[in-house]
Amino acid sequence: MTANIVYRVCVVALCFGLFGCERPVSYANDIQPLLTESCGNCHFRTGEGSIASGFSVSGYDDVMKGTSLGPVVIPGSSESSNLYRVIAGKVAPEIRMPPHHIESWAEGRGKPLTDEQVAVIKRWIDEGAKNN
Ligand code: HEC
Repeated sequence: MTANIVYRVCVVALCFGLFGCERPVSYANDIQPLLTESCGNCHFRTGEGSIASGFSVSGYDDVMKGTSLGPVVIPGSSESSNLYRVIAGKVAPEIRMPPHHIESWAEGRGKPLTDEQVAVIKRWIDEGAKNN
C-alpha cells in the first residue's frame, strides 16, 4: 500500500517534471508580465526609456517593432537579439537593462531580472518569439 502511494507520487512528480520542460514559453503569461513589472516604468510609451530609444514594452507588437533603429528581437536567435543581450549583460555596461544605476532601483523604477527571468526571455526568443 505505502509502496503504491510512493509509486503514484513519483509518477505524478515525473509528469510535472516532463511537462515543465516541454511547455513552450507563453508571451502573454510569462513574458509580458515580466516586461511590465521590470521595464514598464521606463518603457511604456511615454516613459523615458521609450522616448530615448523608441523601445516600448506596451504590447507584443511594440516589443517586436524594437527601437527607432530597428528590431531587438530576432525570432529563433537570442544571441542576435538586443533584447536578450541588454538584460544578459552582453553589451556595454551603460546600456545594460534595467539600467544598473542603483538610484533608479531605489526609486522603484526598475527591478533587476533574476537569472531565471533572463533564461525565460532567452527561451521565448529561441522558440520563435511567438505571440502565444
Ligand atoms: C529606469 C528606467 C529604465 C528601465 C527600468 C529600463 N530601461 Fe531600457 N532604456 C532606458 C533608457 C533611458 C534607454 C535609452 C538608453 C540608451 O540607449 O543609451 C533604454 C534603452 C533600452 C533598449 C535599447 C538599447 C539599445 O539597443 O540602444 C532596450 C532594448 C531596453 N532599454 C530594454 C529594457 C528592458 C528589457 C528593460 C527591463 C528588463 C528595461 N529596458 C528597463 C531606461 C530604462
